[in-house]
Amino acid sequence: MNLRDTLRINEAGHLEIGGADTVDLVKRFGTPLYALDYAYIANVASAFVSALRDNYGEGAVAFASKAFCSAAVYKLISGLGLYADTVSKGEMYTAFSGKMLPERIILHGNNKQAYEIDYAVENGAGYIVLDAGHEAAAVDAAAKKHGKIQRVLVRVNPGVEAHTHRFVQTARADSKFGFSIADGCADAFIKSVFNYPNLEFCGVHCHIGSQIFDEEAYGLAIDVMTDYIKRLGGLYGIAVKVLNLGGGFGVHYTEKDPYYTAENYAEYVVFIAEKLKESARKKDIAKPFLIIEPGRSLIAEAGITLYTVGAVKDIKGIKKYYAVDGGMFENPRYVMYRSEYSAIVANRATEPFAETVSLTGKCCESGDMIAVDIPLQRADRGDIIAVFSTGAYNYSMSSRYNGNLRPPVVMVKNGQAEYIVKPETYDDLIRHDIIPNFLK
Ligand SMILES: Cc1ncc(COP(=O)(O)O)c(C=O)c1O
Repeated sequence: MNLRDTLRINEAGHLEIGGADTVDLVKRFGTPLYALDYAYIANVASAFVSALRDNYGEGAVAFASKAFCSAAVYKLISGLGLYADTVSKGEMYTAFSGKMLPERIILHGNNKQAYEIDYAVENGAGYIVLDAGHEAAAVDAAAKKHGKIQRVLVRVNPGVEAHTHRFVQTARADSKFGFSIADGCADAFIKSVFNYPNLEFCGVHCHIGSQIFDEEAYGLAIDVMTDYIKRLGGLYGIAVKVLNLGGGFGVHYTEKDPYYTAENYAEYVVFIAEKLKESARKKDIAKPFLIIEPGRSLIAEAGITLYTVGAVKDIKGIKKYYAVDGGMFENPRYVMYRSEYSAIVANRATEPFAETVSLTGKCCESGDMIAVDIPLQRADRGDIIAVFSTGAYNYSMSSRYNGNLRPPVVMVKNGQAEYIVKPETYDDLIRHDIIPNFLK
């Protein structure tokens, strides 16, 4: 069992996160509960930032907000010098509430709404990443309205696709994201950006996938993107000042995944930095301002979800279920893409893994699973289960399905836990419900 940097088992035989006993956390805050370790996020974020600064120079690490969007997390990472990759007005709004500087906001999205573009421009977002044909005109109009020149990047599809442990280069152009380089759409769109007087074309963006452990996938993306930068300069005299390589650095969910420490992530950045410097030198292009956008790697392993075991169903010789008081409403990732997780019985953490069980939730869906056929200690009703690596894409994807309240989030620093998202109430659940006059 891999306890990451954030967890340990204490003398009482309980799991600890960030120095806090999970059994105490449950007594104080109840279950289901998301718990995040401050130190893990700070260490990994700092490792990314200093590796980029020390090995590349001009650049930025932008936290992909989609992994976890809350004021406290923005406050933490903005204090460490990170930018924020956002995809909606809501994420920008939350980022501002967490004191993220506007010039460090990057707005993405394949179908940005006019109100989102307007909000980004009005508030001085650093970069808007154009991702659809009409967006140059839309951003230009918003910039004109607010009397600004808006810096823009263009999302391109480099035809490099990375999957866990492998990557492929394809000529695929069927992604909903980005203008394809292969079919000439990227050239045509980028040239058109110069027709808009209120836009400043700064550079290009790509994102090649998620859960990537093979740094060569980024190497290939850098080859393609620097070839493209060279081509834009050679054919059209277009200068690219910024290269945004997106996110996708892998994390450890189960024993199948490599385990990366903060130092390993720093090495990842060094690889990218060296590769990009070398490519720029060889191809005789100016070294661009480099942006990377890690999401899950900054926060997934900082988080655990704590549950109380309720129903135990043992279908002899077939399957054993532990039903917990959460489910797909607070972790929809199994339902969405069969994600795998590992877990421990947090109040019996020193006991051996004795059985293979499936963790199911309390939602009225057969597919409402959190982890399927995983090794675990024996547990009884009332025991506490901790699921690992739930810091990313759990809280941010949570819902109130089946009338369940979204769990609160606590952040732990030096053993002290505080809410960063407080518990919802049943009034929250019906806050926007209205009975129309014809039903009164
Ligand atoms: C444009 C962009 N940047 C960054 C990310 C973050 O990816 P990850 O959380 O895997 O690092 C994503 C994820 O979908 C993305 O689409």
